[in-house]
Order: sequence, then C-alpha cells, then structure tokens
Amino acid sequence: ASKYRPFAPVNLKDRTWPDQVITRPPVWCSVDLRDGNQALIEPMDRTRKLRMFEMLCRIGFKEIEVGFPSASQTDFDFVRCLIEEDRIPKDVTIQVLTPAREPLIQRTFEALVGARRAIVHYYHAVAPVMRRVVFNLSKAEVIQQLSVEHAKLIQQLAREQKGTEWMFEFSPEMFSGAELEFSKDTVDAVTEVWQSSKANPCIINLPSTVEHSTPNIFADMVEWMHRNLKRRDGIILSIHPHNDRGTGTAAGEFALMAGGDRIEGCLFGNGERTGNVDVVNIALNLYSQGVHPGLDFSDIDEVRRAVEFCNQLPVHPRHPYVGDLVFTSFSGSHQDAIKKAFSARKEGDIWEMPYLPIDPLDLGRSYEAVIRVNSQSGKGGIAYLLEAEYGLNMPRRLQIEFSQVVQEVTDATGKEVRAEDIWNIFDGEYLQA
Ligand code: KIV
Ligand code: ZN
Repeated sequence: ASKYRPFAPVNLKDRTWPDQVITRPPVWCSVDLRDGNQALIEPMDRTRKLRMFEMLCRIGFKEIEVGFPSASQTDFDFVRCLIEEDRIPKDVTIQVLTPAREPLIQRTFEALVGARRAIVHYYHAVAPVMRRVVFNLSKAEVIQQLSVEHAKLIQQLAREQKGTEWMFEFSPEMFSGAELEFSKDTVDAVTEVWQSSKANPCIINLPSTVEHSTPNIFADMVEWMHRNLKRRDGIILSIHPHNDRGTGTAAGEFALMAGGDRIEGCLFGNGERTGNVDVVNIALNLYSQGVHPGLDFSDIDEVRRAVEFCNQLPVHPRHPYVGDLVFTSFSGSHQDAIKKAFSARKEGDIWEMPYLPIDPLDLGRSYEAVIRVNSQSGKGGIAYLLEAEYGLNMPRRLQIEFSQVVQEVTDATGKEVRAEDIWNIFDGEYLQA
C-alpha cells in the first residue's frame, strides 16, 4: 500500500506565489501519450497506449493528454476506445491537443463525443520567425485569425456538444522564444473570449517549446505573465518545459515558484528531442523536501518497466530516483558513512542518511544494492556485505587487513566484486589457509 497522502490540489484562492520554495504540489498533467508518443521511433499502438494510460491513472494523474486525434487515426481511435469502453476513471479528465485550424478542431470534437469531461487544448505559435516565415501574418492578424477566431470556435462547439464538462486550454507555442508582450496579447485575447462565459475553466499553458535560456529566465517570463495577464483570477497557469539545455527540471521548479499552478511533462523525461520535463523528477524532488506530490511512485520499478515497454526506450542507469545505480554507493568513505548511519537508525527516525537523498524503500527499492565493492571501495563496504549476507562481524583490525586483500583483487581485475566473491576470498585467505 502506498505511503503517500492523498493529493491536495492547488487552492487558487490561497495563492502566495511567487515564492522561494514549493510548498504544495502543482496540478500534474501527463503528456506521455501525446508529446511523449509523438517523439517515439515507433509510436505506441493500442496495447502500449492502454498500458500507459492505466499506469498514469494508477500513479494518480488526474489530467492526462491522451493524444492528438486530428493528426492521427490511431490517436482518434484511442480516444474513442477510452470513451466507448468506459475506461476513464471518474476523477480523471482526458485532454486532447489540436492546432488552431477549423477542420482539425471540428475533428477533435468528434473524437470527444460522449466524454464525461474533457480539456480541449489548442495552440498556435507566437514566435516572430513563425509569424514571418510560416503564417505570413502581422501580430494583429495572428491575434484575430489564430487566437480569437479559434477560441470562439472552441467555445461554440463546446456549447453545441452537450453532456460533456468542458475545460479549455490555450498554449502560445514557442512562448520561450517570443516577445513577452505579444504572448500576453494573444493570451489576453483568448481569455477575453473564454471568460465571457464563466462556464468553462481555462488553462493557459506556457511552453518552453525549445529551451533557449537558463531556467531563471524562463521562470522570470512565467512570473511576468503571472503578474501582467489581464485576467489571472480563475485562470490556471500551466507550464510545459522541454529539456534542450538539460535544465528542464530546474526550469519547471523555478517556474512553479514564479506563479505556475500546473505542470505538463512526461515520465522519466520522454518527449521531443531531449524530452519534456521529467515529472517523476519534479515530484520526487518535492517528496525529498517533505512535500507529498500526490503521485504514487511507491513501486518505481514497476513504473519504469511499463514506461520502457510503452516507449521502447531504456531508462538510463543514473536517471534520478529510478536508475539501477542511483541507490548504489561504490566509494569507500560513502559506504562507511552509510553503514554507520544504518546501524544508528531506529524505527520511526526521519530519513537522515549520508549520500542517499531519499529512502529507497519509499520507492519500493531495497537497500541490498546500496553497498557495492570495486577498486574504489574501502573496508566499510566489504565489512557491511560480509555482515549483511554471511553474518560475519569482523573486528576493525581485520577489516583493514582484509580490505587490502580484496583491493589487490579488484585492482588486478578492474571489476566489481559481489558479496559471494568477497566471501570466497575471505574463505581462501583465512578459513582454508
Ligand atoms: O512544446 C510545445 O510547445 C507543445 C505545445 C503544443 C504545447 O507541445
Ligand atoms: Zn511540448
């Protein structure tokens, strides 16, 4: 059973942000089945999509972008399968992406017929290069023809398609590479349309479609929007970081401190190019600071197996919180400190362990792999393994002497030695001799 407390969603009325620490979890939205999927060498088929969807629900995502139904028949069929086969838990809202183009928005609404609740997420680019070379439109034309007309169309189609609780989302795509004033003008134009009737909650999603700048700059941009948007009340401010500079997690965290209420990302950072922001990373960073993320990673290996199956991509052995090696310590001084801290630890103590930022047990990982021995290790690790695996409690002087014997072996082979190898060396050296 999970140790996580239930998720307390962000209370928009009780906002104290921007702040210097994150004191509560954001609203999480998984885009694994859309941004993640569109970046795969082999996009997911129905079986892989279903496994991903079910796992995201089990983890506790309440908002899941399930596809881009106007762009792909597979995505359209998948949305239909979720709705027609009644596979969406009552507390989960599905989200679908559409570009700002009338026939594609129409098709998106067709995909959603019969949904209990849905977020229609539309986007158009705001960067100058897109205005110039792709749209060939002035700023005013972009706002009128792309932002306003499609916000109106979405509002109208939602009114016509009754029986679904609609939420609307707008992304000024390439926000991170555009003029702030212009991004704000597009957002203000959209929220003016949508908030004319208060019936539908609105999400404004600010993407670093390409991560161009250091994380503080992205966060400053988000903060500027947070402070200057014409309508902020009742608007859920979402962020959508990518990871081109390898700083997606930092950008996401800073942007949440700067006014973001919600974050979109993928498990273990799958997604276009270098990926979307890794939502597991953000969630467990919060957890390690004492803030329950409201997402359940108490069996992180199972999540990883499912993600590797669905994405057909491996997770790196040093990937934060989940990689094979992240609860492993090779260095002698680290091993010694960990061994002492484990021995001093009592039931109910808070987690205060040198070199291990989080208790591996909380993620369903075990301590067994913590102590590993190679030529970089010292006596502490060797003594720990012999005691843990063979019940052998060596006096300190023998530890020092025996570790030199083991070191000769590891220096000669350059390889790791397991508890069994160490026992065999000990046996040969002291018991058989
Ligand atoms: O990265 C991006 O800009 C997107 C948008 C469509 C939200 O994925
Ligand atoms: Zn994206």
